[in-house]
Amino acid sequence: MSTKQAIKVENLHKSFGKGDTFVDVIKDASFVINKGELVALVAPSGAGKTTLLMMLGCVEDPNSGKMWLGDEKVYDDKWLTKETRKIRREKIGFIFQAHYLIPFLNIIDNLTLLPQANGVADKVSKAKARELLEYFDIADKEKAMPSQLSGGQNQRVAIARALANTPEIILADEPTAALDMERSVDVVKMLKRIALEQDVAIIMVTHDDRMLQYCDRVMEIKDKTTVFSSNS
Ligand SMILES: Nc1ncnc2c1ncn2[C@@H]1O[C@H](COP(=O)(O)OP(=O)(O)O)[C@@H](O)[C@H]1O
Ligand SMILES: [Mg+2]
Repeated sequence: MSTKQAIKVENLHKSFGKGDTFVDVIKDASFVINKGELVALVAPSGAGKTTLLMMLGCVEDPNSGKMWLGDEKVYDDKWLTKETRKIRREKIGFIFQAHYLIPFLNIIDNLTLLPQANGVADKVSKAKARELLEYFDIADKEKAMPSQLSGGQNQRVAIARALANTPEIILADEPTAALDMERSVDVVKMLKRIALEQDVAIIMVTHDDRMLQYCDRVMEIKDKTTVFSSNS
């Protein structure tokens, strides 16, 4: 039986620096996020949103606490594996404010670059990339260069790229910050659809309250800890 749990953290703590430069960012975060959920993460600038995402993405080391990704316990006051990169590669997709597509590769090559570097066969990675481009209504753009696409289209490609390794979790750090209202709503609705149809857990950092209505839950960082608030 597979459980619905995609992310679970208990008493997660993160600080930076020592002495004069010491800063407690996340003091005691405990929460569960399920597959199929789109959760908005909101908090003022500097409150630790990116730091939290980077811990969940096994990029930044917590100081202490416990963390599960799916059913696998990955952190218990220390990483439980030396292969955090492998966990990241297999379970997690990242989306950022900028699309970070490689400007001198066309769209399909941008989508197949990482899977191929991870050893996925050329044919298989291309088929998956085409399926994703189809899903995002940009199948006709596979030979185009990023500079020939609009901001919204490039962000769709970036979302497709985050899905290329069929992740269980997508961490999106202000994915709509560079887009206008209409494109932003498009992107957020798309993320909701992905969460539902692909049974992925998505955490999306946003500063735009108008996006919250499309999310299942809203998580805030308050007093250095995470709390859920109603989004209605
Ligand atoms: N690598 C780092 N070294 C020291 N301090 C950091 C580092 N990364 C983030 N911080 C500090 O942690 C706090 C939270 O930063 P961040 O997670 O980027 O906030 P947000 O994404 O909510 O704007 C800030 O005070 C920031 O200065
Ligand atoms: Mg940030």
